[in-house]
Parts: sequence; structure tokens; C-alpha cells
Amino acid sequence: MLLQGNTILITGGGSGIGLALAEEFKKLGNTVIIANRSSAKLEQAAKLGYKTYQMDMADRSSIESQAKKILSDFPDLNGVIHSAGIMKTESLLSAPSAEIQNETIAINLLGPMALNNLLIPDFRKKDSFIMTVSSGLAFIPLAMYPAYCASKAAIHSYSESLRYQLKDTSIHVVELAPPYVQTELTGKDQASDPMAMPLADFISEVMQILKENPEVQEVLVKNVEPLRFAESNGMEKYRGFFQQMNDGFTTARAGVF
Ligand SMILES: NC(=O)c1ccc[n+]([C@@H]2O[C@H](COP(=O)([O-])OP(=O)(O)OC[C@H]3O[C@@H](n4cnc5c(N)ncnc54)[C@H](OP(=O)(O)O)[C@@H]3O)[C@@H](O)[C@H]2O)c1
Repeated sequence: MLLQGNTILITGGGSGIGLALAEEFKKLGNTVIIANRSSAKLEQAAKLGYKTYQMDMADRSSIESQAKKILSDFPDLNGVIHSAGIMKTESLLSAPSAEIQNETIAINLLGPMALNNLLIPDFRKKDSFIMTVSSGLAFIPLAMYPAYCASKAAIHSYSESLRYQLKDTSIHVVELAPPYVQTELTGKDQASDPMAMPLADFISEVMQILKENPEVQEVLVKNVEPLRFAESNGMEKYRGFFQQMNDGFTTARAGVF
């Protein structure tokens, strides 16, 4: 994907990683459009000079009507970054929640799939790209977030299939797999958690990777590599890492969850 001259739609672009990417791409001279669910985030994005659209990634009719409108308003649209997502804890023993499970799979997995279905026929006509956003947790789950990790493993799998099916088209499929980053994805505390990677550092490494390798298939910053390649050292080491990571997190969150 080229870093200049694009017209890019960023779902969930009103905050966190999506907004930081929006700012970078805008600085490089791209036209950036932001789609969010909440009016407050859209108002803030509009104040920053973005064209905004209210789109609920959990709602197919909202995705359909807004995607049609965006394509008609911006016929040059040639990129989408699927940054919208939610991440909620769930106790499968004491409080299993169909609501969390449905909402998570709808927003994190079915939403991007539905939007891609609508964009691909148009994107095929021009040099374009689809950036999915998975997670290091797609490759080794944090058990407190069962639906989230499952949704991210699924979006990784889907991205692979999508790339294969689109290999002879003009559409480049790239997957961004972030590590733990300082945003408000799980709440305000995450944005200042010293265990999380500072957002600015993350974005600068991402942009460097995209600049150095425009054909990159997976954008992996150094911090995510232990998660991304957790299985590559064999099952025994993977099991050990899984246990250690989850025990550590459970201890750290004792009383909270
Ligand atoms: N930060 C991390 O540690 C981390 C690690 C790995 C992967 N990721 C992934 O990175 C992406 C961005 O997350 P972030 O960390 O930047 O957190 P964030 O700031 O909370 O961004 C998520 C965005 O998605 C939007 N969103 C949620 N549900 C939506 C819906 N139904 N329709 C439209 N927009 C919706 C949110 O805004 P509104 O709902 O208010 O509109 C918000 O702007 C997510 O896919 C996340 O899973 C993050």
C-alpha cells in the first residue's frame, strides 16, 4: 500500500489507534474519513477536520447505508482500516454473557466482514487496500477476554483467506496485529498502564514498517513478536508461556475480576 494519495475510511477512527493512524495518514496528505458509533467521538473528529459518518459496526443496516453514502460522497475511496473494536472481560463460570459474546463477535468480526463485502466490488477497480486489525492475543489468548481473543483469532484467519482470494486483484490485504498499547480500549486505566506500549511509539513503528515495506502482509512491531510467534517454539513452550501470561494477569487483576 502506498502511504500517500489515498482516500481512507477508518472505522473506530475517533480514538486510540484509529485516531493516531488518521493523524499520521492525514499528515502524509491522504484524505481520511472517520466512522464511529458514538456522537461524541464523531464531533471531536469533525473538530479535527475529518469528514465523519455515524456507523455502528454491530448493525448491518447501518454499515450498508453508510458505506453506500461514503462511496457516493468519496468515489476515490481506496482504503479501509478496521480499527473499531471492543474488549470486555467475562467470567465463563460465574457470569457468562451472551450479550458480550454477540456484541464482540458482531463488532470485531462480522462488522469488518460485512463492510468488506460492500467495498470489495468498488475497490477492485483501483489500487486499494484493506487493513484488518487483529491483536497479539489472536495468537495466544488472555483467558479473561474469551470472546475478544476468539474474535481476533478469527479476524486473523479471515484476513489470510481474504488475502488469498484477492491475490490477483488490485486490493492489498494487510493485517495490523498490535501488542498491548496505551489506549482506552478496556477503560481509562489502560491509557496510562506502564505495561502497555505508548501509543505514539507504537504508531511511529507501524508507520516505519509500512514505509519500509509497502507490500507487508502483517504489521508486527517488536513488542508483539513474543505473542505472534508464541507457537513457533513448540507446544510445550507455548503451554508454559500461556500459563505464565494468564497466571500473571489473573494475579495482577485479583479482586477486580
Ligand atoms: N490498545 C490495545 O492494547 C490493542 C491491542 C490489540 C489490538 N487492538 C485493537 O485495536 C483496535 C483499536 O482499539 P484501540 O486500542 O484504539 O481502542 P479504542 O480507542 O477504544 O478504539 C476502538 C474504537 O472502536 C469504536 N467502536 C466500538 N464499537 C463500535 C461500533 N459498534 N461501531 C463503530 N465503532 C465502534 C470506539 O468508539 P465508539 O464506540 O465510542 O464509537 C472506538 O473509537 C481495536 O480493534 C482493538 O481490538 C488494540
